[in-house]
Amino acid sequence: MERLDKLLASTGRWSRSEARRLVREGRVLADGRIAASVEEKYDPDAVRLCVDGEGVDLSRFVYVMLHKPAGVLSATEDGRGKTVLDLLPEEYKKRGLFPVGRLDKDTEGLLLLTDDGQLAHELLSPKKHVDKVYFARVDGALTADDCAAFAAGMTLGDGLRCLPAELEIVSSGAQSEARVTVREGKFHQVKRMFAARGKTVVYLKRLSMGPLALDETLAPGAWRALRAEELGMLK
Ligand code: URA
Repeated sequence: MERLDKLLASTGRWSRSEARRLVREGRVLADGRIAASVEEKYDPDAVRLCVDGEGVDLSRFVYVMLHKPAGVLSATEDGRGKTVLDLLPEEYKKRGLFPVGRLDKDTEGLLLLTDDGQLAHELLSPKKHVDKVYFARVDGALTADDCAAFAAGMTLGDGLRCLPAELEIVSSGAQSEARVTVREGKFHQVKRMFAARGKTVVYLKRLSMGPLALDETLAPGAWRALRAEELGMLK
């Protein structure tokens, strides 16, 4: 059981003092009755709260799918530029949402943000080998030798060994397109794997992470809450 002000503040939409004012002004309904005092305690999993007639979402964690656009940093704060948190409502920043893993500034595509540290840890754990699928456009032709090198597990320029990865060539020419599946998330991994084959990535987009696929109806910069079935698959 939690006090009303704590419950309302846990959403990130109001501070504790704002919550107290809302209750004082009679703007909070708890289970259909006007709350008389912030000292009232309720079960967060059972109570139905409304503020100014609008239902309040008391879910313990928030899960957001963002179509990250190029030019935005996968960080929670950065003095020098726009971050992915700047694309979400302020209440999510206040709740402490963070991106699950990083995409480079110029990489687009699927980014999951949450305040569920446990789920983030599971998805990022190197032991779990969660598949990440990318669409890449590179300068130069791609060949069966490149596919074989990705499949064998590459050693990068600095000696770093990569797990076997899958390279599916979509088109090959002066510029080529491919889908790449990696099972780990090393720094600049996809770009460095192509670089080790003498190719420069000119465009990179993450299409999926484990069972979670980018909703292609989301334009770059747009986001939505994860659906219950998507969350179920991730867990
Ligand atoms: N690999 C990269 O090189 N960059 C990304 O943003 C993601 C994977």
